[in-house]
Formats: sequence, C-alpha cells, structure tokens
Amino acid sequence: MQSVLVTGGAGYIGSHACKRLAEAGYDPVTYDNLSTGWAQAVKFGPFEQGDLLDRARLDAVLAAHRPVAVMHFAALSDVGQSMRDPALYWRNNVCGSMTLLDAVTAAGIDAFVFSSTCATYGEQDGVMLDEGCAQQPINAYGGSKRAVEDMLRDYGRQSGLRHVAFRYFNVAGADPDRQVGECHRPETHLIPLALDAVRGRREHLTIFGTDYRTPDGTCIRDYVHVLDLVDAHVRGLEHLLAGGDGGVFNLGTGRGFSVREVIDAVGDVTDAPVPVVEGARRPGDCTALVSGSRLAEAVLGWRPQRSDLRTMISDAWGWHQMPGYSA
Ligand code: UFG
Repeated sequence: MQSVLVTGGAGYIGSHACKRLAEAGYDPVTYDNLSTGWAQAVKFGPFEQGDLLDRARLDAVLAAHRPVAVMHFAALSDVGQSMRDPALYWRNNVCGSMTLLDAVTAAGIDAFVFSSTCATYGEQDGVMLDEGCAQQPINAYGGSKRAVEDMLRDYGRQSGLRHVAFRYFNVAGADPDRQVGECHRPETHLIPLALDAVRGRREHLTIFGTDYRTPDGTCIRDYVHVLDLVDAHVRGLEHLLAGGDGGVFNLGTGRGFSVREVIDAVGDVTDAPVPVVEGARRPGDCTALVSGSRLAEAVLGWRPQRSDLRTMISDAWGWHQMPGYSA
C-alpha cells in the first residue's frame, strides 16, 4: 500500500482527508504536533507526533514511511489571531512549511498537495473570484499562505517538486458517519458557534459587522462541505501521481451566503432560534469571498456534491450532538 504523509492529520480537514485516503486505498501517515489537533481523531493510519519546525523528526518519519506524496494541512488558521500575533503565523505556517519542503525534496518526494486559502485574495469588491484574480491578502493568515504558494513555485522550478495548491473557501460540515468532525478550541467559525448557541453552550452568537456593502449588511462566504474538499485532495494527489503538472485551484461552489442567511439556516435545521447580538466588524474580515470551481472541474473532474448549506449544517449538527463532542 502506498503511504501519504498527512501533516495536520489530527485536525479538522486533515482527519477527514485521512479517512478519504484510506477509502481510496492509501496508508495515511499523520504528522501533527497536536497544538490544535486531537490524537483521538487519528483513526485511519499511523500517527507520528512531531512539529513542522523539527527537521530531524521530519527526516526520520519520511525515512521510516517512505511516502509517495505529502498532503500539507498543518497550519494555524485563525484570522483574528493572525492579526494579533502575525509572527506566530509567519513562524508556524511559513517557516514550518519551508522546513517541510526542505525535508520532502531531500527525501526525493516529488508530489505535494497544499492547503491554501481564499484569504489570499483579500478585498475584491464583490467579484466572483477565479484563480487569475490578484492575491492581496488583508490578514497575516492569508499572507502566510500566499508566501507558501510562492515557495512551492520556486522549489518546484529548482527541484522538480510538482504541487497542487487548493484555495479553500469556507469549509463546513462533518463526516456523516460521525467518525471525525470539527473541533477547534477555542472555536472561531460561524457554523459551529451558531450550533453551540442553539445548544446553550454559549449565551449568543455575535454577528461581526452589519454595515458591510452587502444586501443585508453582513459578510458573504462560499461554504464547501469538508467531504467535497477532501475528495478534491485525493483527485489532486492522483493527478500528480499520474505525472500531472499540478496547479492552483479554487474550491468553491459559486454561491455565497451572508452571515444572517447562515444563522437562519442553522435555526431551520436545528428547529431552534439562534440567539444573536449584533457586534462590531472583526479585524481582517473581507466583505465577500465567493468562487466557482471551473478549473478544478476541468483538470481534476471535481464538482461539489454535498455542499448544500442545509446538508453541511445538518452534518455538523449530527457531529455536535455526539456524546464525546467537547469543543
Ligand atoms: N462570524 C460572525 N460571528 C462569529 C464568527 C464568524 O459573524 O462569531 C462571521 C465572520 O465575520 C465571517 C463569517 O462569519 O464573515 C465566517 O467566519 P469564519 O470565522 O467561520 O470563517 P472566515 O470567513 O474567517 O474564514 C477564513 C478564510 C478561510 C479560512 C478560515 C480559517 O476565509 O479560507 O478563515 O479559519 F480557512
């Protein structure tokens, strides 16, 4: 069986990717420092605890498992935190990725799948984004991901490393089998926070800004089911393993929802109102981030299958009601 190194495999998206890889016949080897991930989320292959900045540990893990490719999810991803502590993001996301790339190229691995983000686009004044749009991030999280995209291009020219970079829009939902799900501590994302408010685990949800230039004044995002997202990753991996050139792909649905629309949908799915208060804008938030996925469809045959808003909320709700869930 071919091994794939999955950095961040103990996290939300990484754990779903491990499940999908195992289903597709690969052995996913999780490499994770557990700073934001969970050992109990590693269920589908071996676990190697380690930090991205630890080159010796990375070398040892690569030598022991001899993966054919790397999926690199490990990163800090809290936009607000990245505004308060940008050094943390540059050290972990950029220096960490560079250490990983050094180890990967030294080990002779030439296929790399990278988690990038729509946050690399920044403010674009309401346009439907595509991969050709300028990248002008307005927060350190987006800046750190753009830097790694640049690094991948440069390493590729020099070493022959081929890569696929996915610019995620807003990932949501959970494994409908409830083997893995989303569990951040502290939680900062809209849908899990709204579900917590419904369950009385928080007093209310604060809407961050009601004065944006959108129809209802709140920010608009394009939500993608985590299962669709990890399906794209396996397609990207197989494209590279078949000798493909790689590339950069947006993973969106082409349909945006405002914060208020998401809150209403959470109320409908759970059959309970979400207690909300209106608050100030959150620094670093863009007005609207929405993208189609024409390129991913043309090159990888990817189309979102499960990314309907209610399905995502309902899958997340199922996970939240699991007895062991404790964000
Ligand atoms: N929001 C609220 N109240 C909350 C939480 C969120 O109003 O308590 C709003 C935000 O202001 C934003 C929307 O809900 O308008 C979605 O916010 P999330 O925090 O759920 O996600 P982001 O849009 O901040 O997502 C960004 C990037 C993603 C990236 C993610 C990582 O767009 O690419 O951060 O955390 F992966």
